[in-house]
Amino acid sequence: MNRISPSILSADYGNLAEALKLLTASGADMVHIDVMDGHFVPNITLGAPVVRCLRKSTALPFDVHLMIDEPARYIADFAEAGADRITFHVEAKSGIEETLDAIRAAGKEAGLAVKPGTDISEVYPYLSRLAMVLVMTVEPGFGGQSFREDMLPKIRALREECARRGIPGLDIQVDGGISAQTIAKAAAAGANVFVSGSALFGSPDMAAEIDRFKKLADAAQA
Ligand code: DX5
Ligand code: ZN
Repeated sequence: MNRISPSILSADYGNLAEALKLLTASGADMVHIDVMDGHFVPNITLGAPVVRCLRKSTALPFDVHLMIDEPARYIADFAEAGADRITFHVEAKSGIEETLDAIRAAGKEAGLAVKPGTDISEVYPYLSRLAMVLVMTVEPGFGGQSFREDMLPKIRALREECARRGIPGLDIQVDGGISAQTIAKAAAAGANVFVSGSALFGSPDMAAEIDRFKKLADAAQA
């Protein structure tokens, strides 16, 4: 099933509660929350205390994308703050097993992300423990960048690997440059969870845009 996870990175950080209400009313399936530490990526966003405050403004699942050096240290904080799915990077400095154990211990769903320069096979050893793999379609750190079409073969290879392993329905998320111009390509390659920040928040009618995204993704897979 195709799902849309709007990224609040492109929202007005002074009015995040309003942004969440808009997403909820517009048919979003989850909320993508980008956490950046200024080390793993050259930008800083927000931490678990903010996630905790945001939890009051929507019942939608929180899809937390950790772009931080040491995810294992912060899993419990984000879980307690209200994250439902926690995605961290295969390139981060914490041990992957240790981080997956922490997510499982917290009773949350795990996602594993790869930057554009990382081979998709890096996630294969962990597939059976994951709810989702995030294939970055831009270099992480900033919204508003262009979709990288050269990531499409990674998505296709991952979808084929999932089928080979008997987990054809594993969520494959794409993040970066997703818009009405690019979503069909990602969907046709095998992605089914679509993050979008600037395209959705830049649209005059978020509900209509989310609906359009879903229809484009569905049609690309039909
Ligand atoms: C980038 C973030 C993305 C970002 C996407 O590091 O992970 O979630 O918000 O923004 P757009 O959709 O504008 O590329
Ligand atoms: Zn993200």
